Amino acid sequence: VDLDIDPAAYDAGQHESFMRKEMLEQPEAAERVLRGRLDERFGTSHLGGLDLDARDLRAVRRVKVLGCGSAYYVGQMGAGLIEELARVPADAESASEFRYRNPIIEPDTLYVAVSQSGETVDTLLAVQEIRRKGGQVVGLVNVVGSAIAREAGRGIYLHAGPEVAVASTKALTTMHLAFSLLALQLGRVRDLSIADGRRLVQALQRLPEQLGEVLALEDQLVPVAARLAEAESLFFVGRVRGYPVAREGAQKFKEITYRHAEAYQTSELKHGPLALISPAVPTVAVVPDDELTERNVAALHEIAARGGPLVVLTHAAVDLGDLPSQAEVSRIDVPRSERELDAVLLTVALQLLAYHAAAALGHDIDKPRNLAKSVTVE
Ligand code: AGP
Repeated sequence: VDLDIDPAAYDAGQHESFMRKEMLEQPEAAERVLRGRLDERFGTSHLGGLDLDARDLRAVRRVKVLGCGSAYYVGQMGAGLIEELARVPADAESASEFRYRNPIIEPDTLYVAVSQSGETVDTLLAVQEIRRKGGQVVGLVNVVGSAIAREAGRGIYLHAGPEVAVASTKALTTMHLAFSLLALQLGRVRDLSIADGRRLVQALQRLPEQLGEVLALEDQLVPVAARLAEAESLFFVGRVRGYPVAREGAQKFKEITYRHAEAYQTSELKHGPLALISPAVPTVAVVPDDELTERNVAALHEIAARGGPLVVLTHAAVDLGDLPSQAEVSRIDVPRSERELDAVLLTVALQLLAYHAAAALGHDIDKPRNLAKSVTVE
């Protein structure tokens, strides 16, 4: 099936590309995925399509998230959130690998299939394999009535609206928020307190507006992106909550700039890739204000000491210390949410960086070479 959407069928309006239009639509998309689903009183969420009651949710012993590409990276953010809020073991795996390794399907595991198109064949076949073995699947899907939405049987629609650009943006943001809603509900039937639940509900309510504030960083990011576009090879680093953010940042960057962008755990730099750091290899570092800030900042000093240019996505409260005076450092202070939810805001800043690097290179941003919007063949 050729599901490539013909951009001519839609209208980018006054925008120079669909990707930019879709990035700018993120505050509204976020509002739509949250609408009617937050419960301020009990600090939880309501997800009609989940069709699992409190008893069913309490019986879940493990969560396994499956998706491909960017959906897999957001899935990794989602699995982290589920573990953090619900204290249920959770991880993400690329659906393309999962389906080829005769996976063990457990009856008390909740499988979450995440896909914008709902037609990605690797994810669809993973869902079918799980269902065939009697596993329970929840779909986090954007396109209503798509194959994955139908096969999963239960799910959370993303309501991101049509996404045309090959590089996914607003769908990813809604995926992250859908995971937040699921994690909140799984948490609140367990040990997440009502106070923490309410704190997160309030933070989620503020997110659409904060996404707008991240988008307002665009002017500041344009020259930084143009500088990054000059490099042939880059690192994107983060750790724990920040690692999937770095992975998604590198993915977006390589997809539309055709530069070699490699994501690494900041903690792993000293175990190998530090050998590659030089003035020709910039590092984009995700350094949120959280329990790991000090360790992350120490790594920035290691990079700067080796002459590696740095772009640091961080929060205003973070003190980067005295980096060597000759170090090339661009600091971007991203608006902050609660630390459990910051990933989504940092991810959007990385979208802008990739977009403007590709624009500086003069690439066809909506239709990058060799890629299709939806991969429906094996
Ligand atoms: C995202 O920018 C990519 N184009 C790609 O990785 C995509 O996320 C992946 O192919 C999964 O697509 P899906 O969400 O439609 O399943």
